[in-house]
Amino acid sequence: MAERIEVLIPEEEVDERIRQLGEEISRDYEGKEVHLISVLKGGAFVTVELAKRITVPVTLDFMYVSSYSGTESTGIVKIVKDLDQAIAGKNVIVVEDILDTGRTLSYLLSLLNDRHPASLRLCTLLDKPERRVTEVKADYTGFTVPDKFIVGYGLDYDQKYRNLPYVGVLSFEE
Ligand code: IMP
Ligand code: MG
Repeated sequence: MAERIEVLIPEEEVDERIRQLGEEISRDYEGKEVHLISVLKGGAFVTVELAKRITVPVTLDFMYVSSYSGTESTGIVKIVKDLDQAIAGKNVIVVEDILDTGRTLSYLLSLLNDRHPASLRLCTLLDKPERRVTEVKADYTGFTVPDKFIVGYGLDYDQKYRNLPYVGVLSFEE
């Protein structure tokens, strides 16, 4: 079956929205420092662009949790790579590509909360609220998207298409 990708959010719109989120975060954290935690691999694309748009001091760390295989969520969350630095006393913002069922992020946020950050917020480029099974709310959301299989800007299908500079919808044709 051939894979087809349709543009859902063009590159310019994604870039502009990330710029706005960066401004909002810079205002909210004025006089403070923010510690961005990028959720690998998908969140890395948003994190880097967002970090460039934040004007307060930024530090970064990366965490790799895996919960997905192919197109179906397995519900199993595994820490593949933990953070390098402690987050106690830091103003943490977790940066993700998409908030889908919420399983990964509810697990991750409670785990991080146990490490006593000064504050803990969530920024996600995309939110697919129709799919939610666990209650998780993002503090900063780029776009709300329909219940379709999304690729691009960090989102993959079997590890492909993360590098697309826009957000697209993947479909299959005979
Ligand atoms: P959740 O635990 O169901 O919220 O899943 C979150 C993770 O599933 C995201 O970080 C993505 O890696 C992946 N995911 C969820 N929806 C999509 C999608 O539409 N396309 C590609 N990956 C997705
Ligand atoms: Mg992900």
